[in-house]
Amino acid sequence: MPHISLRQIRIFDSVARYQSHTRAAEKLYMTQPAVSMQMKQLEENLGIELFERQGRKLALSKSGFQLREYSNQIINAYENMIDYAEKIKGCHTGHLTISVATTANHFSTRILSAFSEKYPDITISLDVTNRQTILQQLENYEPDLVIMGEPPKGHGLLSERFMKNPLVIIAPPGHRLLNEKQNLTISDLKNEKFVVREKGSGTRECIERHFKDSGINFSTTLEMTSNEAIKHAVSAGFGLGIVSLHTIELELKNQHLAVLNIKGFPLCRHWHLVTRKGKAMSPVTEAFRSFLLENPEQHVYYK
Ligand code: PGA
Repeated sequence: MPHISLRQIRIFDSVARYQSHTRAAEKLYMTQPAVSMQMKQLEENLGIELFERQGRKLALSKSGFQLREYSNQIINAYENMIDYAEKIKGCHTGHLTISVATTANHFSTRILSAFSEKYPDITISLDVTNRQTILQQLENYEPDLVIMGEPPKGHGLLSERFMKNPLVIIAPPGHRLLNEKQNLTISDLKNEKFVVREKGSGTRECIERHFKDSGINFSTTLEMTSNEAIKHAVSAGFGLGIVSLHTIELELKNQHLAVLNIKGFPLCRHWHLVTRKGKAMSPVTEAFRSFLLENPEQHVYYK
């Protein structure tokens, strides 16, 4: 029987994910030659070529692709075993790996800071990324827990809705629509240009759906991966923006941005706490879950 170590399986998983020995080495705090050597040994031991070079990328071969499913299961089972051991010990030390949607980061760090104060011995890794990437991470059993907009049904996910996420239309102070007629509707926006988040963002997906359902053309001037950048672009006059109310607490307070009063807005989304079915919940994850669900709204200014 070929000898394969858990370490090799983890390296294989990382090379498959980043499609590069160099990037996998960075993520694993190893040297690139050490990663290459481990992959060579793994291929020799299995007697299978796991990767094929496609230009600068290292893509999984057909066999590599099939074996990745098993490596995911092994890593997941290993982590479940460690989590279970923690549970038996029943103590509140350990590590929490959490991913939050870009927009949710505006309040999540406050929650994590309060959580850390209560549980100082728990260490935390936080990844801030968009909806599409988070769904991919959940598929790979990566984070213990996720904060995001409503996840799609039928992907082996468990989700708990915990707080409103109102989406509002922002404009620079002095924008003509702020002073025009009362009772503005979405049709009054048909000639406006918008600064929007990138494809793959949950906010973007929701706005596009809303405009499409309303039969209004949605035209964009600028596409950006950060809410901060959108706020700057809107105040610089690039167009209107649609963002979560949770991202503009300071700007509203300082009157650097204004919210347009449009019928049908704010669009009401909700934040969800999401886990992957089959990934055991460690006491640390459970502690964070209870902490968050206890009173999430205490961590945001606008409810
Ligand atoms: P996002 O937010 O736009 O930062 O991806 C997540 C969501 O609303 O689903």
